[in-house]
Amino acid sequence: MKRLWIILALVPVLLIGCKQHNEATEDAQMRVFVDQLMAKMTLEEKLGQLNLPVTGDIVTGQARESNVAEDIRHGLVGGLFNLKGAAAIREVQRIAVEESRLGIPLLFGMDVIHGYETVFPIPLGLSCSWDMAAIERSAQVAAREATADGICWTFSPMVDICHDGRWGRISEGSGEDPYLGSRIAEAMVRGYQGESLADPETMMACVKHFALYGAVEAGREYNNVYPDDFHAFNEYMQPYKAAIDAGAGSVMAAFNTVHGIPSTGNKWLLNDLLRDQWGFRGFVVSDYCGLEQLRDHGVCTDKEQAAIQCLEAGLDMDMVSAGLVNLAEAVRAGKCDGRLVDAACRRMLEAKYKLGLFDDPYRYCDLSRRDEVVLCDAHRAEARRIAGECMVLLKNERNLLPLPKRGTIALIGALANTRPNMSGTWAVAAVPERYKTVREGLEDALRGTGAKLLYAKGSNLMYDAAQEAIGTMFGREMRDPRSAEAMRQEALAIARQADVIIAAMGEASEMSGECSSRVDIEMPDAQHDLLVELKKLGKPIVLVHFAGRPTVLNWETENLPAIIESWFCGSESADAIADVLFGDVNPSGKLTVQLPRHVGQYPFSYRQMRTSRLNEAGDFNKFSTCYSDISSKPLYPFGYGLSYTTFEYTNFYLTDSVMPLDGKVEAHVTVTNTGKRPGSEIVQLYISDPVAKGVRPYRELRGFERLTLAAGESKEVVFVLDAERMGYFEPYHLTWTLEPGEMQVMIGANSRDTQNLPLRVL
Ligand code: BGC
Repeated sequence: MKRLWIILALVPVLLIGCKQHNEATEDAQMRVFVDQLMAKMTLEEKLGQLNLPVTGDIVTGQARESNVAEDIRHGLVGGLFNLKGAAAIREVQRIAVEESRLGIPLLFGMDVIHGYETVFPIPLGLSCSWDMAAIERSAQVAAREATADGICWTFSPMVDICHDGRWGRISEGSGEDPYLGSRIAEAMVRGYQGESLADPETMMACVKHFALYGAVEAGREYNNVYPDDFHAFNEYMQPYKAAIDAGAGSVMAAFNTVHGIPSTGNKWLLNDLLRDQWGFRGFVVSDYCGLEQLRDHGVCTDKEQAAIQCLEAGLDMDMVSAGLVNLAEAVRAGKCDGRLVDAACRRMLEAKYKLGLFDDPYRYCDLSRRDEVVLCDAHRAEARRIAGECMVLLKNERNLLPLPKRGTIALIGALANTRPNMSGTWAVAAVPERYKTVREGLEDALRGTGAKLLYAKGSNLMYDAAQEAIGTMFGREMRDPRSAEAMRQEALAIARQADVIIAAMGEASEMSGECSSRVDIEMPDAQHDLLVELKKLGKPIVLVHFAGRPTVLNWETENLPAIIESWFCGSESADAIADVLFGDVNPSGKLTVQLPRHVGQYPFSYRQMRTSRLNEAGDFNKFSTCYSDISSKPLYPFGYGLSYTTFEYTNFYLTDSVMPLDGKVEAHVTVTNTGKRPGSEIVQLYISDPVAKGVRPYRELRGFERLTLAAGESKEVVFVLDAERMGYFEPYHLTWTLEPGEMQVMIGANSRDTQNLPLRVL
């Protein structure tokens, strides 16, 4: 018997041993393969592997004639991006493989940010599910679809932490918290890359934007960032590191500077930190023209200098600038070390090797697979389910929601009947014509029930047509030529006939995303005015709010009985909204960014650092850290979200009140569904370290668990507390440390409403 136990105990050890042995053998084989290939390559061909030009005039049927195609034939291109379609990609790959001297396959990348043709909620929305399995699955589905259509490399996950709702790209990330952001970063990488990149249904992830991009000053796009190292490590760096530890194959350098040097040409960042300290072994790509922008930053005068600086810093692939590809003369003249070219080229070839492109350059271009998996019913069902988990119920007075499927319902609003806006920003592969509008989703949900759905647009997005054009660019135009008054009257007329009004309003999808920074983050004027008029009718109003960022919802909170933050929930938005409105799905999303009372509060995070004079209550108090004209508290706190049922937290205790620095203590809490329907709750663990060498936030998330409970059911949640969970990057050496002292352990349903217990760390 004892022997059996020893054998069983040895099994995992042997398995790990075998895995490591296999990996070492595979690495050795890859090295030999790459060595042999590089021995045949000219300097120009090596530099060609570092070149990622814009797809340009390469489209199906024209590939043979384009300039890029000519470069491909000469071995001067390493990859292409945002070319859609397996047939087109196959044709371009054929040029590389059959018409270039060495036949090295190209890498095909794309911004597959939140799904492919099956579009999942924008990442900010997705993060509100706090459901790591669902998030991983969304990335897995995205990879399955993209790889069936020729893509083997995605420019995702975007893991930039952001404390500023003015920044449009807050929509692309997972919100404001580094702990949650790190878990999501890992889940995304696992989803995209699976167990092995050799699997043709997985693709290589690219962590971006390294580093600190989310801290852009004043939320203004492409602006400078200023976190010092202490804050950089404690607030922003962790999700990048988590994605790298999860095995992400590539990293994208950010547009912004770090320590005053553009990230793309920043040796400390790309070499010392990323490679030497963090052990990253994949390749680094610049962002779009990031290399040549070293000139715009004013750190060099010409592109050659910029290219040398970037290569020396550790950049391997140059997106669009065509800087690295033209370095041959500089290398020959001794201005640039050829060994750096070799190192970068090797990393690019290794990526292609790992993706199996040398075995079969067409392995991602199987046309029959495309038809089977892209936008298939199973993926759409998955996206609909996940979308339902992402919506956040902000308010539900007197249980107005869920709505019964009866009576007359007026659906009103600028976002109620638009198809192209449903998927949200950064959905390059989206096919809006295959998605439903909210109106169609509700019609389908109500079909056969006897309930009547009336619809009126009611207003344009905003009065200013030029502003609306900016917010609805890239084929999302929705301007109605009628006068504001005519539209309003039509809406009021149908609202008068209705028992309840559903207002589908907020931002259009291009009002967030890249280069969509805004200082006005309130409900756009024309929609606000319409809501005011509708309210005068005295009917119940449910606001289904669309947004790609945290917005200011003061008036709405004061005046409307029910609000659902629906973000942009992707291709299945319409059905998912109907599911939540009519109670087929019980909402469970919780905010991963707090909602402010005023744009002037930014930058703003629940992870408020202790100041010498903070007034925790948030009110005006002369000579304290506060505002004299508004509360400094958020309107809705981080982690907040309601359900159609209720949850109670009881029996919160720690297994010990004292924890040695190298010990463990458990935090237990029992959560009970005290309502009448099943529901999911996101239990959150926060800690506070009131006395530490470096200033700590008043509270910071360090754990969470998503529970699904039947009506009346209870479950106990246990968090293990130890130095890894409780520590921080101390200010001197930036090493992860837990210091002795009195800490607080806090558990609750959001960052504001917690139960707290002291824990003494010895
Ligand atoms: C964005 C990146 C994106 C790239 C390629 C850039 O403008 O900053 O996030 O991956 O374009 O489309």
